[in-house]
Amino acid sequence: MSKKEPIYILNNVSKIFQDKNSRTVAVDDVSFEINKGEIFGIIGMSGAGKSTLVRTLNRLEEVSEGQVIFDGKELGKLNNKELRSTRKEIAMIFQGFNLLLQKNVLANVVLPLKLAGIPKKEREEKGLEMLKVVGLEEKAKVYPAQLSGGQKQRVAIARALAMNPKVLLCDEATSALDPKMTEEVLKLLQEINETLDLTVIIITHEMSVIEKICDRVAIIDHGKLAEIGDVKEIFSSPKSSAAKHLVLPALTGENPFDMTDKKCYRLVFDGRSATEPVIANLVKETGKYVNILSANTRSVGGVGYGQMIVEFPEDIKDQRVVLEYFNKIGMNPMEVSKAVK
Ligand SMILES: Nc1ncnc2c1ncn2[C@@H]1O[C@H](COP(=O)(O)OP(=O)(O)O)[C@@H](O)[C@H]1O
Ligand SMILES: [Mg+2]
Repeated sequence: MSKKEPIYILNNVSKIFQDKNSRTVAVDDVSFEINKGEIFGIIGMSGAGKSTLVRTLNRLEEVSEGQVIFDGKELGKLNNKELRSTRKEIAMIFQGFNLLLQKNVLANVVLPLKLAGIPKKEREEKGLEMLKVVGLEEKAKVYPAQLSGGQKQRVAIARALAMNPKVLLCDEATSALDPKMTEEVLKLLQEINETLDLTVIIITHEMSVIEKICDRVAIIDHGKLAEIGDVKEIFSSPKSSAAKHLVLPALTGENPFDMTDKKCYRLVFDGRSATEPVIANLVKETGKYVNILSANTRSVGGVGYGQMIVEFPEDIKDQRVVLEYFNKIGMNPMEVSKAVK
């Protein structure tokens, strides 16, 4: 997009849950903007305040302080009627799909249109059109129980799109899905972002989801905005400790640092270099070795994407040689240690 125009502006948003015995600051003075047409990620550990924050975006949660401005309107200032019509522009999908099990797929998709009083013929036409968008036309008369998790989420997406929203909020929408179905749903979200000119906001605790489709990402840590920026940039050089925590576990299930006491570095492959030759060339050029402790890289058309954790040689001079080599070829080496476990 040529010009950046915000669809959301958050100004010093806080949400405090308070009762007689306890006080939780779930969202703590958060300010940022989300632009029209982007795929924006909100990531954080469990309990960081993501769901609470996202619920302030359609005023399912009233803010305690600050303002949420959607498409030029401050949500907190809308009366009930205005809020109802504005909410039609803000669709949401969840981890649990929220489909009605006793209704078939088409009936699920047209439900919001039915509630809005759209006549039967018209809403069924629209429903079928939306099912076509998500690639499930032939499942119109089928019941949710007969669908896979990925298909259920696609039905939920078709239902969310039925009202022609401007924004789609996705709260952990792929967290209950296996990697293949996750891929399928993310691809669909990317497609509708492009074809329907829809702003998509992805809330997740998984960096791999953000990395696949988001343009920019906000990192939430203990209710606060820890870091915000381009996904590529944050992925290759995370600055806040929250970002480092989120980027590193994307590597493997195991913790590579349990295996070593030596100096370790993280290498990022961002498409400029192939993964294999980098290590082979290090040996060829410098005569020094590194140990690969963990790798999560994939090759796309001969170029490498992902990251690797390598253990450096013991000798300090050797370490310097290796570090210089990685710097020279633009690998963004970042020292990692038990501190960011
Ligand atoms: N309705 C509520 N009442 C009290 N505390 C809440 C409520 N909703 C969320 N919280 C608390 O707010 C914090 C953030 O929760 P949540 O937004 O669900 O985090 P996340 O989605 O990042 O896992 C947690 O400490 C949670 O217990
Ligand atoms: Mg949540």
